[in-house]
Amino acid sequence: MAKKIVAGNWKMNKNLQEGIALAKELTEVVKNPNCDVIIGTPFIHLASVAEVIKGSCIQLSAENCANKASGAYTGEVSAEMVKSTGAEYVILGHSERREYYAETPEILKEKVELALANGLKVIFCIGESLEEREANKQNEVVKAELAGSVFHLSAEQWKNIIIAYEPIWAIGTGKTATADQAEEIHAYIRSCVAEVYGAEAAAETSILYGGSCKASNAPELFAKPDIDGGLIGGASLKAADFKGIIDAWG
Ligand code: 13P
Repeated sequence: MAKKIVAGNWKMNKNLQEGIALAKELTEVVKNPNCDVIIGTPFIHLASVAEVIKGSCIQLSAENCANKASGAYTGEVSAEMVKSTGAEYVILGHSERREYYAETPEILKEKVELALANGLKVIFCIGESLEEREANKQNEVVKAELAGSVFHLSAEQWKNIIIAYEPIWAIGTGKTATADQAEEIHAYIRSCVAEVYGAEAAAETSILYGGSCKASNAPELFAKPDIDGGLIGGASLKAADFKGIIDAWG
């Protein structure tokens, strides 16, 4: 069985003090959850938030890392640096990074490899645009994204990969994929994983849904057999909203 996970992606929100306060609040309200709980924060928050959540059930993720190991890359943050803060995960392949920062499948492949080599687990995001969905190309798109950046990994490395399916048309739009729409493509994604790593590994791969997921629609989404949790943007910025989604796991 795949691990159940609710992960937050704060994106470029919250200054350091606000981020610390939110992390503190989460440690107070999230107790004995029935899923893994991860928060993805901006780089500058990581070390401080790691201290705040120490000993709690909350785990920490970065939202990005560099595609170079170290050296003269002004402004970049390496996977090793991320790991040294106490973070255990990194979100890679988010559509916002692909679109606004021109991250190609090749660049993402380098990032994934460096993240894994430095002991981070990767939350790897895939998902189609509205145009692609309207042309019924969503399956093709997600398969190509997987093939382009993660399907070359060994079976051992694959154990540290979490997939997040995030249809671009549902991100921050209030427009959620219906539970049936999400389940259909999650099942397809799992079948793609099975083709490469076998049925057992596919069954153990966590596949999260992201895109306007909130407390009101999480129960229906999480009830689907191939939806193992969520990657949450807007609704991860308030403790009560995020807890509402975690509580969808009962
Ligand atoms: P929203 O939950 O704000 O739609 O964002 C989803 C997302 O992009 C998480 O990575």
